[in-house]
This record gives sequence, structure tokens and C-alpha cells, in this order.
Amino acid sequence: MSEKASPLLRLENVCKSYHKNLVLENISFEVNRGETVTLIGPNGAGKSTLMKISLGILEASSGSVHRDASITIGYMPQKVMIDPVLPLSVRDFLYLRPNTSYDDVAEALETVRLSRLSEQPVQGASGGEMQRILLARAILGKPDLLVLDEPVQGIDIMGQQEIYGLIAQIRDETGCGVLMISHDLHLVMASTDQVLCLNRHICCSGSPEFVKDNPEYHAMMGRPMEGVAIYTHHHDEGHEHKHHHGHDHD
Ligand SMILES: Nc1ncnc2c1ncn2[C@@H]1O[C@H](COP(=O)(O)OP(=O)(O)OP(=O)(O)O)[C@@H](O)[C@H]1O
Ligand SMILES: [Mg+2]
Repeated sequence: MSEKASPLLRLENVCKSYHKNLVLENISFEVNRGETVTLIGPNGAGKSTLMKISLGILEASSGSVHRDASITIGYMPQKVMIDPVLPLSVRDFLYLRPNTSYDDVAEALETVRLSRLSEQPVQGASGGEMQRILLARAILGKPDLLVLDEPVQGIDIMGQQEIYGLIAQIRDETGCGVLMISHDLHLVMASTDQVLCLNRHICCSGSPEFVKDNPEYHAMMGRPMEGVAIYTHHHDEGHEHKHHHGHDHD
């Protein structure tokens, strides 16, 4: 075997149009084992579309998608429809996934710390619990690659941190790669290796620290993240008046 394992997923120059509407333009990136890649971008940026292309649910209009053929993928979609009438326990909801045993279900519920809900109706789960149930479902097949479309939507900040912590824990324990979508860079910084800022094309990418200070990122998101740059970004006037950095704007 070669020294460096090949990526779990690699996209090269992927473009996607819906009818004549170009929604993804020249997207290239890869996801490796043990690594988390986070997609950030505004609504309509093409994040879900890019995930579906990565998974093979949708076909790219051009470019190439290489998925390691031997790997198992766990997917947590942005939306799931559950019959509101049919009575179904959390345990049986998870058991519906093909090739799943009740032991697998128990283990996955344990991992997301929801064992106590096993016998409860899945329709009764709160928003935050539902997200964790869907995470449990995504890890049932012991995936090599975990693909998560907004795993924390509708969850309060404490709950969001908990879910991101769980995802990082699963990654570290299993060595899987993670591709996920987030709207909050600061919440995912600690557990992300690579950030892709997407707004139809990749505006900027790199480590979370790099992206955080990147003007392209701030331009894309329309506002700096809460409590950070907007309040701390005073120019030096009045403070270090004489200290000139060589910029010539006065
Ligand atoms: N099946 C479709 N047919 C036509 N246009 C589509 C289809 N799916 C998505 N689009 C369009 O493609 C663009 C990207 O959609 P996508 O769902 O990938 O965005 P997103 O970044 O996931 O947004 P959000 O943050 O709101 O989930 C949008 O303008 C959307 O209207
Ligand atoms: Mg989406």
C-alpha cells in the first residue's frame, strides 16, 4: 500500500446547472479519512446540491466526482419526512434502515446519547432530539464517510455545540471523514480541518483560522460573525496615531 491513502471523495471542476441556471461553477475539493470538511455559504449557494452530487444522488453537468468504491457512506439529509400518523418508536425508525440489527440501533442511540428515547414515538422527538436521531441513523452502517446537511438546524447554541462535539467524537473514534454544512464558522472551527466558502463558486477555502479573517468570507456572508470583527475593528485613529503601518490612506 502507498504511504498516503487516497481520498474518500474527490471532486474536480464540478459544474451544475438546473435547466439553464448555473448553480455550481468549477468546484474542486477532497475529503480524506479522519478529516472534517465544512461547507459554509448563504441560502441558495448550492451547498445541498454539491452534497447530492458528492453522494451520487444528483449528476454533475460537467467535471468529475471520484468516490472510493469500497467505502460506506452515511448521509444525514437536510429534510426528512416522517409519517405523522403511523406509530413508530425511535428504535423501529432506525431499524427501518436496511441491513440493521437492533444491536446496531442500540449502539447508535448510545453514541448520540438518546438510549432513553428508544421506545418513545419518533414523532414526539423535539427538534434537537430529531437531529440526533438522524445522526444516529447516518452512523448505523459504520460509514467511512459521513455527509451531514445542516446537522444543527433548529437547535439552540448549547445543543449545537453538543452535536458538533458528537460528530468530532465519532470521527475521532472511527477515523471516518466528514463533509458537513454549517452556517456558523465559529461553532465549527474547533472541529473542522478545512472550510469551503461556497456561493455558486468557491469564494475562499482553507483552515478555519484562515477563512475567518478572509475578506471574501465576510463579503459572502454579508456581515461579520456576531460579536467579533464588527465591534473590534477600529482603525488605529486616536489610539496609535503616530504609528504608521505604511498604508497610504491619509
Ligand atoms: N431541483 C431543482 N430544480 C431547480 N433548481 C434547483 C433545484 N434544487 C435546487 N435548485 C436551485 O439551486 C440553487 C442552490 O440550491 P441548494 O439547495 O443547493 O442551496 P443551499 O446552499 O443548500 O441553500 P440552503 O442554505 O437554503 O439550504 C438554488 O437557487 C435553488 O433554487
Ligand atoms: Mg441546503
